[in-house]
Amino acid sequence: MVYAYFFTSFDITAEFLIMPELIPVFTKDEIKSMVLSIAEKISSDYQSGEIILIGVLKGAFIFLSDLIRHLTIPVAIDFVGTSSYESGTSSSGDIRLTKEVSVDLKHKDVIIVEDIVDTGLTLTYLIDYIKSFGPRSVKICALIDKQERREADIRIDYPCYSINKGFLVGYGLDFNENYRGLSGIYQLKF
Ligand code: IMP
Ligand code: MG
Repeated sequence: MVYAYFFTSFDITAEFLIMPELIPVFTKDEIKSMVLSIAEKISSDYQSGEIILIGVLKGAFIFLSDLIRHLTIPVAIDFVGTSSYESGTSSSGDIRLTKEVSVDLKHKDVIIVEDIVDTGLTLTYLIDYIKSFGPRSVKICALIDKQERREADIRIDYPCYSINKGFLVGYGLDFNENYRGLSGIYQLKF
């Protein structure tokens, strides 16, 4: 309580008070304007038809929900679920589907919306999976392109942020299911 009073009196945010081990990387306002500019780009690239955004659960749910509110073209959404991290911060490389698509993708323009691309193994798996439904096109939109551990050759058509390394949380991203509700994005300091 003493610390809470001290910091509050200097107008430090509540997020900082309860998460002292987090280093701010992207603020809520920075993310908002980045999502708006990516939405404008997607809207201008697909002026002639409806697109289907497929969000990758769970991490992309906040990003996708903000993104669709800035699109100016008709859009349908669906989600797929994958799991590769049992827990912790490194990929097991063993991708499992935890939720299948539930809309018809045949001859549709699909954009896979991912929170963060790390090794690229999840997206490699998902691109093959989505293509098996016969869409007209498949593109990738990712909030964060994290490059240091990349193993697969992935082309991200709509990247928001690029970082080299570090484990990020907030704005949908988690560490062992924690921190998803933070408005900004933070690096977890181990
Ligand atoms: P990949 O298969 O190695 O590319 O891992 C992709 C998935 O791992 C992402 O969709 C995230 O769910 C998770 N992931 C990778 N890096 C991070 C991170 O820095 N923070 C939170 N989740 C991460
Ligand atoms: Mg993810």
